[in-house]
Amino acid sequence: MSERKSIVLGVCGGIAAYKSAALCSKLTQLGIDVQIIMTENAARFVSELTFRTLSRRPVITSLWEELGEWKPEHVALSARCGLFAVAPATANFIAKFACGIADDALTTFAATFNGPVLLAPAMNPEMWRHAACVENVEKLRRRGVHFIGPERGHVACGDDGPGRMSEPERILEYSLQLFKTSESL
Ligand SMILES: Cc1cc2nc3c(=O)[nH]c(=O)nc-3n(C[C@H](O)[C@H](O)[C@H](O)COP(=O)(O)O)c2cc1C
Repeated sequence: MSERKSIVLGVCGGIAAYKSAALCSKLTQLGIDVQIIMTENAARFVSELTFRTLSRRPVITSLWEELGEWKPEHVALSARCGLFAVAPATANFIAKFACGIADDALTTFAATFNGPVLLAPAMNPEMWRHAACVENVEKLRRRGVHFIGPERGHVACGDDGPGRMSEPERILEYSLQLFKTSESL
């Protein structure tokens, strides 16, 4: 691994994707290398251009992009990544990750990476409380995956309850803590 801290930041298709732009900006301002992987649905909420500009590097949106590495990109990335964070983590991503499904660039990277993982879920409170989501989150916690949030409050669809993505500052703080812990091991 290089001296510089390196994070893969996954962005999924939820309203809170706009908050991840602020997170990406804060990480790069701290001199951390940020590789964004967006799902196709995330690109419906926030432009790839926004993340490309803030991370100062190409965004990965597909498994089939040619980025000049002889190894498949998800394998090469995994070797140089110190932390994998996903914000927002949708119910869909959480379910796929819990089951080991690898059917796009983000879930394939997730299935490859063996280092520390931080998920910042954001969804409708009913989705968060759904038995399927509860089981998936428990399964991932047992595997050592870290969760931050969701916070209680007003969510975009008008409901109140647990579902809001944690603020970028809190996710940043948690990420830095995880970097510190993994460096001291
Ligand atoms: C307007 C809108 C907002 C959405 N917000 C969320 C959300 O906050 N959290 C979530 O889990 N799914 C949300 N969804 C549903 C996801 O976009 C959908 O499950 C999608 O398949 C997720 O794909 P991805 O996980 O590959 O990004 C939303 C859908 C729409 C149309």
